[in-house]
Amino acid sequence: MDSIEITRPDDWHVHLRDGDLLARVLPYTAGRFGRAVVMPNLDPPVIRVEDALRYRARILSLLPEDSAFEPLMTLYLSDETTAAEIEAAARSSRIVALKFYPQGATTHSARGLRDLADHHRLLEAIERSGLPLLVHGETTAPDCDVFDRERRFLEETLAPLVGDFQGLRVVFEHITTAEAAAFVSEAASRVAATITPQHLLLNRNALFEGGFRPHHYCVPVLKRERDRRALVSVATSGDPSFFLGTDSAPHPRGAKQSACGCAGIFNAPIAIEAYAEAFRRAGAMDRLEAFASHHGPAFYGLPRNADRIRLERRDGPGPTRDGDGAESLEIFWAGEKLTYHVADPCRK
Ligand code: DOR
Ligand code: ZN
Repeated sequence: MDSIEITRPDDWHVHLRDGDLLARVLPYTAGRFGRAVVMPNLDPPVIRVEDALRYRARILSLLPEDSAFEPLMTLYLSDETTAAEIEAAARSSRIVALKFYPQGATTHSARGLRDLADHHRLLEAIERSGLPLLVHGETTAPDCDVFDRERRFLEETLAPLVGDFQGLRVVFEHITTAEAAAFVSEAASRVAATITPQHLLLNRNALFEGGFRPHHYCVPVLKRERDRRALVSVATSGDPSFFLGTDSAPHPRGAKQSACGCAGIFNAPIAIEAYAEAFRRAGAMDRLEAFASHHGPAFYGLPRNADRIRLERRDGPGPTRDGDGAESLEIFWAGEKLTYHVADPCRK
């Protein structure tokens, strides 16, 4: 196939940040994706509807006038979140979901909830609202091995929760393990998962290839090859429970290459190309469109994008970085082979 055309994809999980960083990274996402579910882990986090609407306005103010990109906003669940706020979120067409961060699990999660299971009232309100609960699915128990965090969260928290709240709609975000893939495959259609390009292309060896590789560090951390294969298998299966979510999470180089480097992989500039590479390697290019452009809107109850993008077959590496020095953003898959490239990737 020399080139393929697919319905314009959406990104169902992205960190757009705020301020100068927002201005730098937004064009990559807005130039390629039709819509994106914008994560609320700013500092301070996006807890109230009015915070989300203001954040949305800041995003829109940075877009070119003719841009059709639509940011889909989320609220950050914290101890301050009330049932009334959830109801208000459900009434706002701008807010599409609620995000659960386990306290201490990742960037700006200090105001997340300690244990989801302790928040029955809130969960009932979320279930009633019909808004999906987006789950960062990792336990933060100090005795838990880092590589077991997702598996243990699934066993101890997520599986019981999905059983107890039969009307709750859940997206298990950025899944990384064979167990998570199997759970979502077998669960009812109200349970879905996003998968990142890095978890489809790399296993945890990539973190230690010839030395420590901070730009391959994200959370949940890369897992074993058996896990990667299980993710590729479900992503390319045609199962509508799995869809595209880049988890693109930029941190300046100085913050990544440090004694305590931040978690996050900046993949927005080549995300579609990287997914295409994973699907091509799996011999499943014909399934890319469903994963990237059909399953997400179906789960969120939104129409598919009306326009299309073209991927041209042209072997060549992707770009290495945005900017220079300590403030540069190192781009995922820099210098590695990409077989398909978005033709005319707009404004960047
Ligand atoms: O690696 C990550 N970075 N994982 C997350 O869950 C958050 C993200 C960030 O915001 O930096
Ligand atoms: Zn994320």
